[in-house]
Amino acid sequence: SAQERGTGGFPVPDGVFAETVTEVQHYTDRLFRFRMTRPQSFRFRSGEFVMIGLPNAEKPVYRAYSIASPSWDEELEFFSIKVPDGPLTEHLQKVQPGDTILMRKKPTGTLVNDALLPGKRLYMFSTGTGIAPFASVIRDPETYEKFEELILTHTCRQVDELTYGKELVASLKQDAVFGELAGPQLTLYSTTTREESEQMGRITDLMESGKLYQDLGVPPLNPDTDRVMICGSMAMLKDVKELCEKAGLNEGANNNPAEFVVERAFVG
Ligand code: A2P
Repeated sequence: SAQERGTGGFPVPDGVFAETVTEVQHYTDRLFRFRMTRPQSFRFRSGEFVMIGLPNAEKPVYRAYSIASPSWDEELEFFSIKVPDGPLTEHLQKVQPGDTILMRKKPTGTLVNDALLPGKRLYMFSTGTGIAPFASVIRDPETYEKFEELILTHTCRQVDELTYGKELVASLKQDAVFGELAGPQLTLYSTTTREESEQMGRITDLMESGKLYQDLGVPPLNPDTDRVMICGSMAMLKDVKELCEKAGLNEGANNNPAEFVVERAFVG
């Protein structure tokens, strides 16, 4: 209701959810994760995003955030960048358990199972916080029913930026329920570009050279068997999309499923 007040002291605007932060984890000076309560009436499809804001102004600033948690989870999880002068993230990075976060009511997005035709293999190509929607997709049992193999790639500048994805996949593989699916079907392929690590290079270069497919022991991208979801910076989206098209894959949408889909995980 309009009477309700967030932690910022400003009234909660009409027509948005006001939720409570339950957990915050910082990974680097650029990345953190937070969890919050989920409204009972809120439904979404794995891979979708919502608009998030803070009750710290009369007219809050909202930004698109991919929901990182699966649709069966009773809480909502988000993985965020910290932008020093970002209108939202400069404040959002300081949230603590108990604080209020605003969320617009309608989720949306193209990185959903419905926008892809069935296939043998699902590639999820991500850079930076672009891994967030895939954190949801790889925790959705439906994805494991639709695809035999799930390949999640995550490329960051530095090694410690890969921690969120590595911890998530490791915990899934150990999970009593999910381990049975994620164990055999899910592969995480993490690379760095500006710090020495076991796997290095931009995903685009690894696709073009064929090293990605060699490392995974799979044939190169093929429209007959492979489906792709892409999430990262604008430049990365454009370049990976071009490689998909070159391999003969067509872009799909909610109302017209095809072989690949693209989303910008845009936060600033
Ligand atoms: P690089 O270090 O070579 O720029 P950012 O933090 O700038 O969003 O970048 C996240 C990761 O995405 C970095 O590892 C970066 O590599 C990589 N990257 C940036 N642009 C592209 C692109 N056009 N294609 C593929 N990867 C990219």
